Parts: sequence; C-alpha cells; structure tokens
Amino acid sequence: MPAIRSVPVLIAVSLLALPTFSQQALQTLLVGSDRRPAQSLNGEWHYLVEQPPFRELYDGKGAVRDGGYAQNTHPNISSGPHNAEYDFATSPTLKVPGDWNTQDSTLLRFEGVVWYERDFSFTPAAGTRTFFHVGAANYRSVVWINGKRLCEHEGGFTPFDCDATALLHSGQNSAIVAVDSTRHQDDIPSVLYDFYDYGGLTRDVSLLTVPSEFIDDYEVQLKHGTSFDGKAASAKTIAGYVHVEGANSGTAVSIRIPEAGVSTTVTTDSNGRASFEASAKQLTLWSGTTPKLYKVELHAGSDSITDDIGFRDVRVDGTRILLNGSPVALLGANAHAEAPVRGGRAITDEDVRNIFAMLHQIHANFVRLCHYPHDEKMTREADREGMMVWSEIPLWQRISFDKPEVYAKAVTMLHEMIRRDRNKASVIFWSVSNETPNNPARTHFLTDLANEARRSDPTRLITSALIGPKVDQDRVVQDDPLIAALDVVGQNQYIGWYEGTAEDADRKTWVLPQKPFVMSEFGAEATFGNHGGPHDRWTEEQQVNVLQHQFDMIRRIPQMRGVTPWVLMDFRSSTRNIPKLQNGFNRKGLFSEKMQPKQSVELVRKTYQENPPVKAE
Ligand code: GCU
Repeated sequence: MPAIRSVPVLIAVSLLALPTFSQQALQTLLVGSDRRPAQSLNGEWHYLVEQPPFRELYDGKGAVRDGGYAQNTHPNISSGPHNAEYDFATSPTLKVPGDWNTQDSTLLRFEGVVWYERDFSFTPAAGTRTFFHVGAANYRSVVWINGKRLCEHEGGFTPFDCDATALLHSGQNSAIVAVDSTRHQDDIPSVLYDFYDYGGLTRDVSLLTVPSEFIDDYEVQLKHGTSFDGKAASAKTIAGYVHVEGANSGTAVSIRIPEAGVSTTVTTDSNGRASFEASAKQLTLWSGTTPKLYKVELHAGSDSITDDIGFRDVRVDGTRILLNGSPVALLGANAHAEAPVRGGRAITDEDVRNIFAMLHQIHANFVRLCHYPHDEKMTREADREGMMVWSEIPLWQRISFDKPEVYAKAVTMLHEMIRRDRNKASVIFWSVSNETPNNPARTHFLTDLANEARRSDPTRLITSALIGPKVDQDRVVQDDPLIAALDVVGQNQYIGWYEGTAEDADRKTWVLPQKPFVMSEFGAEATFGNHGGPHDRWTEEQQVNVLQHQFDMIRRIPQMRGVTPWVLMDFRSSTRNIPKLQNGFNRKGLFSEKMQPKQSVELVRKTYQENPPVKAE
C-alpha cells in the first residue's frame, strides 16, 4: 500500500490525457472577500460549447493550451482570410453565476468544456493589486485575461482568487474562462455520484482590488480551549491571527470589535502573520437561540475589512456535544445546493431564503450542507439565523484512495473549505467524506485527512458520514477504524428503503463506540402527490412510516446526538431515472423540488418540536 503519509507533491498523471495545470500567478483565497468592495463581473457572458476531445482547451497530452479560443480573435467575416472560426462577441450568452445545464436546454446533460468570455472596463489604481475572484466553477477552470493565461483551479465548490494586476490595463479588457465539468476517476468527487454535475461559473465572479499589502487571511474567534465553568459568561477572551500578504515584519495590525469593547494592535512577524489575544468587556456568545454577530474591524496599513463574526465554542464531552459548555441536540436535515422551484445550482438570495424556509418549517436547528461546500451566502445566513452547520468536501464514496495526488487534491479542497468559512460561527463540523469503503487504503487516507483538518482548525469537530455497519440479525455493530480519527461520527443507513422493512427498525440494537453520533442519512423515496398505504413504496404515506420507525429506533440509541433525514428537498440526479416516479430526481426529499411539503414534513416538525429523537444528554 503506497505510503501517503508524507505530504505528497501534486503529480499530474496524464494517464487519460488528464489536464495538467501549472501555476501562473499568485493564487489564493481571500478570506472575507464578500466583505470587500468588488467590481462585479456577474451578468451575461458569451459562451462556446466545445465537443470532445476538447482540443481547443487541451493538447493531445492533456496539457492546457493557450492558443485557440483563449486568443479571443474576431474573424473579419467579410474580407477573410481567417483561420479562427469562432467569435465570442457575436455568440449567445449565459448568465453568470449559474450552471449551464439549466440555462440552455441543449446543455442539460452536457458534461464537458464550455468557454465563457466577457469584456469589461477597468481603471487601475496605483499601488494596488487586483484579483480575479471566482466563487466556484465546476469542475476545472482556466482563466485568461487579455489572451494571457492567468490561473487554473480544480474543484467545483470553493473560491479562488488570482492576481491579475500584471495582465489588466486601463480601458477595455477581456476575460475568458474555460470550465470543464468532465468527471475523471481521480477527481473529487470521482466519476459516479448521486447529485447533479452542474457545470459552469456557478458562483459570483468579480474583480477585487486591494492595497499592495493586504489582509488575505484571518481568524477571529473565542479563544480555543476557553474554560466553561458552567457559566458561559466567563468566556470573554478573543484570539486569533491576521495575515497581511506583502507586509514586512513589524507591520501594525489593529483588531477592533467596538460592541465587545475590544481594541488591540499587534505587529506582523516575518511571515506577515500577526497573532493576538484580547479580553472583551462584554460578550454575548453565538448560539441557535442567540445568533449574536459582532462587527469585527481589521486594519493593516491602508487595507481594512469589516466582517460579521459570532463567538462560540463547540467541543465534545464523552458522547455529548457541547455548545458554549451546554449539551446540544442537533435536529436537522441534509440539504443539497439545489435551487428550489427553478432548479439548478442554488446560489441566489432567494434560493437561500427558500432553503431556510423549509428548514424552519421542520423546526430544524442544524443542517448538513451535503456533499460539498455550499455558496458562502448559505453559511452567512446560517450565522444570522443561528442554524448550526455540518460542512463537507465532496469526497463521496469511491475515490482513488491509493493515489498521493488524489490525497493532495483532498487536502487542497479541505484547506479551501476551512479557509473560506473559518470565521463562520454556524459551522461546527468539518466532514472529510461520505460513505467510503472500509479498507486500509481509505482508512489511512481519511485518518490523515481528519488529522489535517484538526491541525488546520482545532476549534471545530471533525466528522465523516459512514456506511456499512456490521449487521448480524438485529444486532448492528459500527466499529469502522476511521471512527478513531473522528470527534463526531455520522451514520448513514436506509432501513425500510434499501434494506428490510420500516418495521425492521423496531428490532435493531445498535452497538456503537462511546462517541457522539449523528444519524446523518436515512429515509425513503416518495413522489409528491403519490398516495397509498404505509407499505406502498413511492407514496408519501410510506415515507412517513419509514421515518416514524426510524425516529423510534434512533430514540433508543444513547450516543445519538443529531439527526438529519435524507433529504430536505428532492434533487436532480443523473442516476434516478424511473419514469413518472423519479424523472431524473432523487425523491427522498421531505419537500418536492417545487417546495411542496410531503406528509413527512408535518411528521418531522411535530417530532422535533414535541418528541425529539435525540437528546442533548
Ligand atoms: C447515500 C448518499 C447520498 C444519496 C443517498 C440515496 O447515502 O450519501 O448522496 O443520495 O444515499 O441513495 O438517496
């Protein structure tokens, strides 16, 4: 079994003519980018669809080309001669942000390369740097500015920022982004997964201009390890760091939280990082019932950012999960980033409002944002509403656990997820995977990854959703070796849908380690409006029956501290193709994809409100 414990160097293995990227410019992830003034590049972008084998984007060895469409030539149609046979300027447009699948009906099932282009005017300012910001592009993307390659990114659900200063000029500029949604065996997720491969520039695109020395990363949180003597009031120490890119050591950095009576100034070390610790004069801790956010003002040289941050502590104590020193029960649901009603990737304020409306309808205080980091608007809203969040990287079931370059990708995605949301109080769990096979290569890979997550952010709990407990008649034993690396354990199971009957759950005895567990997936498919008896599959009544017996079973498992039925809303999936019943959607939603509440909504609401299936202690 190849050693993957050393920090692997990213090796581009072009076995299948995979694209190989080389870094061209400073690429980072600007923490708090949504709190900076931006020149939005959202809106209509011209697009060209490339057919396989995508030779405009890749050469025969899979390396990215700079010729072809990236040159954005405009053929003189009338006079000629010309070789270029494309013209972005007169091509149709797609709305950015947005997936291409639901904007152009001919692209609903397209997985491949779409080229985006737009012109924009820009006025450089002396002594500043300008980053090309992409909130997410699924799955691989390459950026050119004025015909020069700027940067590339792999991963469909996390932001990236590329320093475009050297390529931008005053007046009219052109940006081209090639997005490739093709799935590959060594990608994360890999080639088979039960959610839709929505391709495109699926989140905001903008230009962010910052001073030559700028704040690119910071953590401002309740000091880790704050002791809770049962009275959260004693917790008042704020600690963290600010990193100033381009700063010499000794640069002054000020951190102010006026409402908490915090104002302190520290200086950067030789790496541009300034750590701090300060006592608040008064501090209301963030929680589901008091989602208090504070204005946090950071200044360094001529740069400043004001963020909205909640202060809270989450930890485990035996089989309990403690929020600010008090045990908490997590009552929620899984939610995909599927746009309610209109369909496609969920990204708009209205999408966010609709998803939270459904969560409130079932009386949730917790949501598993499956199976990838959602748009930052979701974790911002969770902060504001006091909704605790399980956030995860898209490491779904089978990936190439034996390849160091795949481990490197997983680490990059983990770092990007943590970096973007490390100051979001609502995020209490980082999850490293979903339903992976219990074998030595996977356990090594994910144990390393869980430890890397904990090293990167010791203030949150590390989890993963497991499958495959050992079932011996009615005795269910979960002893997956990965559990040793987790703080909280997610357990997926589908008694009553994929295995046995709903009533089988009544006879199960679960044998679990003494750690906090979340029943992270369970449920059954029901087509909205399809009615029948409690054992008629695909009916709403059957879904209610399965969930009822599941809740009764979960109630008998003492380690269970959280519950998230699969899934809040029906979602598009290319593996769900039973005519009339599925029509391309996974129907385990409590709501239809049009936000129509199935009968299960009332069951879940009533259960959560009157007879929760899990106890805080
Ligand atoms: C799995 C998986 C989900 C999937 C679900 C289902 O547990 O984690 O992504 O959609 O089962 O089969 O509906």
